[in-house]
Amino acid sequence: MSISSLLLSTFELDIAAIDDEHRALLRAIDELNFNARIAVASPWFRSWQRRFAALCAAHFAAEEAWMSAHGIPEPLRLRHAQEHARMLREAEEGSGAIVAHGIVAAGDVYKLMKVEFFKHFIRFDIELKPHAAPQPSLVSQGEPA
Ligand SMILES: [Fe+2]
Ligand SMILES: [Fe+2]
Repeated sequence: MSISSLLLSTFELDIAAIDDEHRALLRAIDELNFNARIAVASPWFRSWQRRFAALCAAHFAAEEAWMSAHGIPEPLRLRHAQEHARMLREAEEGSGAIVAHGIVAAGDVYKLMKVEFFKHFIRFDIELKPHAAPQPSLVSQGEPA
């Protein structure tokens, strides 16, 4: 099972736009697993990295705008935004710096990224869920008992 399909069943904030962006990020991370043997010094990886950093930048900005608009307390919002900034610096790190960390193949980056993604989700993004609009229950939609 890919991690993007795992997200579908397990990790939802009930904020449609943000959930869609999380799925897009996970699909991009999955590409590393499907191309696990490709070197981080390759043109393919550099292209992936540019695309992924752009997805992260757009997602983090959207998430921070959502937090500002939905009454997330400032200390939580700032702590979350600082972590976004740290992750973005890492996402934009050049392949030379990645190799210096002893990482040579896309599959190694995949292992790190999936852990980073879920760690961030569980420590930070999950705090948005109580502020999302409540979802209508089956009973209120007139489902038969
Ligand atoms: Fe976040
Ligand atoms: Fe997020």
